[in-house]
Amino acid sequence: MMPDTAAVDRAIASRRSVRAFLPTPVPRATIAEILDVSTRAPSGTNMQPWRGYVLTGTPKDDLCAAVLKVFDAEEPGHRQEVQYYPDEFFEPYLSRRRKVGWDLYGTLGIARGENAKMRAQHRRNFQFFGAPVGLVFTVHRRLATGSWLDYGMFLENIMIAARGRGLDTIAQAAWSHYHKVIRPVLGLTEEEVVVSGMALGLADQDAIVNRLVTERTGSDQFMSWRGFD
Ligand SMILES: Cc1cc2nc3c(=O)[nH]c(=O)nc-3n(C[C@H](O)[C@H](O)[C@H](O)COP(=O)(O)O)c2cc1C
Repeated sequence: MMPDTAAVDRAIASRRSVRAFLPTPVPRATIAEILDVSTRAPSGTNMQPWRGYVLTGTPKDDLCAAVLKVFDAEEPGHRQEVQYYPDEFFEPYLSRRRKVGWDLYGTLGIARGENAKMRAQHRRNFQFFGAPVGLVFTVHRRLATGSWLDYGMFLENIMIAARGRGLDTIAQAAWSHYHKVIRPVLGLTEEEVVVSGMALGLADQDAIVNRLVTERTGSDQFMSWRGFD
């Protein structure tokens, strides 16, 4: 293959989490193309642990309504089946997490302590941030940590393949907290664990929330080089 460095790097580097979408529909064929090319993701012993649901229109609205009803009722105890974050954050992860949180709220003009506004922003997760397409991904309960690693590669492929078509995405672990609500609505089997949701569509370029630029630590900060000099 002739290297196409610029195109590949541009697709990777231009991916960001979009939190406001235009309602413009995405053709089914385009979504299928994105998903099919993404199945080229590697997985241990080629197990391909991915499984999911592509929602638009009424099915998407029904899922959003069901979860929003529970979210708005503020019932406690909506825990993920498989924990994403540690119980206690520590450095350097704690600072990074805080920074992106405050940067997000800062972009939106939400000050510290404005909990209702923060909650309203979090709530938009359950509207897929206005995207025309919502995806929900699940994994078989009996699979192990390695399959979750494979899953991340599949999800990233989707996000990059979307960029290659001028589309944007956001991975949404927020949905996995509401697996009990999602299960009957989507008809998930008992074996399915909700890994993540994802919104897909055209970014609303005018939305302030999409101005957020997140930082990265350079690889020189976390990689040790051996044998190069
Ligand atoms: C698996 C996964 C789940 C995520 N879940 C959420 C989510 O539920 N809601 C949200 O607003 N952002 C979510 N994010 C987005 C992260 O906050 C974001 O990737 C990070 O801050 C870096 O920003 P960037 O994606 O714009 O580069 C998630 C990201 C990943 C990879």
